[in-house]
Amino acid sequence: MTLNDIKTVCKIEEEAFPTPWTEGAFRNELTNNHFAHYMIMECDGEVAGYAGMWLIMDEAHITNIAVRAEYRGRKLGERLVRELKQTAAFLGASRMTLEVRVSNRIARNLYEKLGFRSVGLRRGYYTDNGEDALIMWVDLDRAEDSERKEERKA
Ligand SMILES: CC(C)(COP(=O)(O)OP(=O)(O)OC[C@H]1O[C@@H](n2cnc3c(N)ncnc32)[C@H](O)[C@@H]1OP(=O)(O)O)[C@@H](O)C(=O)NCCC(=O)NCCS
Repeated sequence: MTLNDIKTVCKIEEEAFPTPWTEGAFRNELTNNHFAHYMIMECDGEVAGYAGMWLIMDEAHITNIAVRAEYRGRKLGERLVRELKQTAAFLGASRMTLEVRVSNRIARNLYEKLGFRSVGLRRGYYTDNGEDALIMWVDLDRAEDSERKEERKA
């Protein structure tokens, strides 16, 4: 993701989240936050989705991920999470974590499919409706191993 992508990313952010990040927030991430890593995914020359994380010591924390509504259900979200995991592992992370709304069944399915497991709740984490966040973690090395085992079984 570059500064030129921010306008489009914010449109996707606005359709995806009830309390979207602002352009300034993304600009700050790209220019001032040395822990931040952000990527976009292009389809037919269009930004179809984006994802970001903070990498602190050996832990990666997913900050946000979204796919444009008309591109959903085509495995692009899955591709983005796989890319984040690979990038985090490449940069030295051994574990990855995220928060997800308890009601966000689609995202929870995606994360579970890619090896994330729920380890707890942050009660009332989301300020718009007071919803709880599920905290999920994946061990990057072990996740890759178990995915390879699943692929061998299939
Ligand atoms: C969550 C999100 C990124 C998923 O992206 P996507 O490209 O639509 O998802 P994919 O096509 O890659 O699907 C991957 C997996 O997600 C789950 N999933 C996707 N769509 C689903 C649906 N309609 N119902 C249930 N599970 C679904 C499935 O596990 C799926 O794997 P499968 O097809 O093998 O069953 C997308 O829905 C989105 O942008 N949502 C709004 C923003 C958001 O909630 N972000 C997450 C914040 S924590």
